[in-house]
Amino acid sequence: NIKIEVVKDKVEGGKFAFDHIKKAMEKNALVFGLATGSTPETLYKELRESELDFSDKIAVNLDEYIGIGSEHPQSYAYFMQEQLFNEKPFKETHIPDGLAPEEAEIERYNTVLENNPIDVQILGIGTNAHIGFNEPGTSFDSTTHKVALTDETIEANKRYFESKDEVPKYAYSMGIASIMAAKKIIIMAFGSNKADAIEKTVNGPVTEEVPASILQKHQDVIMIVDEEAASKL
Ligand code: F6R
Repeated sequence: NIKIEVVKDKVEGGKFAFDHIKKAMEKNALVFGLATGSTPETLYKELRESELDFSDKIAVNLDEYIGIGSEHPQSYAYFMQEQLFNEKPFKETHIPDGLAPEEAEIERYNTVLENNPIDVQILGIGTNAHIGFNEPGTSFDSTTHKVALTDETIEANKRYFESKDEVPKYAYSMGIASIMAAKKIIIMAFGSNKADAIEKTVNGPVTEEVPASILQKHQDVIMIVDEEAASKL
């Protein structure tokens, strides 16, 4: 049950997403699942410039690169500080620790998720329809896990690094089941390079080859897309 909202560009998309977050806060949403990447930047700008107060709220992020720490400017921890948390402090923020040993970190993060059920989850989508770093083929039953990033994702993310070689090859990610447990999901996509992924997500069969297609089975999904990302719908 995906409710689609077509906007003219990502600035308007950020405003639409902001309105949904504001409404959820009026209904006492406590735990916010957050994404990184370029897609939520306009939303985070709206939040930074707003009157909203997150000092009694909890943020839980989707994913983090393995092998770089929170001080690394390309880490997702650093991104969140810059984009949101420096301006809008939360009571608690959670993100996988890219320098922590695998087994313990996965267990720790699953416990974080169990203790903090997500009220509103913000998602972007990869050109291959990944959500979080759940690449095609990831089990719909997955919880937090270590991911080998696909070449497509490394290509897409190299723009933030000095060279492709610098892009980490692995990440920790919340699983698909972890994402589906959120009460409400807001997925955003802007630009023509997302049009195929959006079309398959909305109209295609629900298959692990198209991770975001599982959203068809969630009872409260809002999809905010600009005209380009919506062009194949
Ligand atoms: C980021 C994340 C990814 C991105 C996706 C789109 O935390 O989980 O799924 O949302 O790769 O990235 P952008 O927004 O940069 O196109």
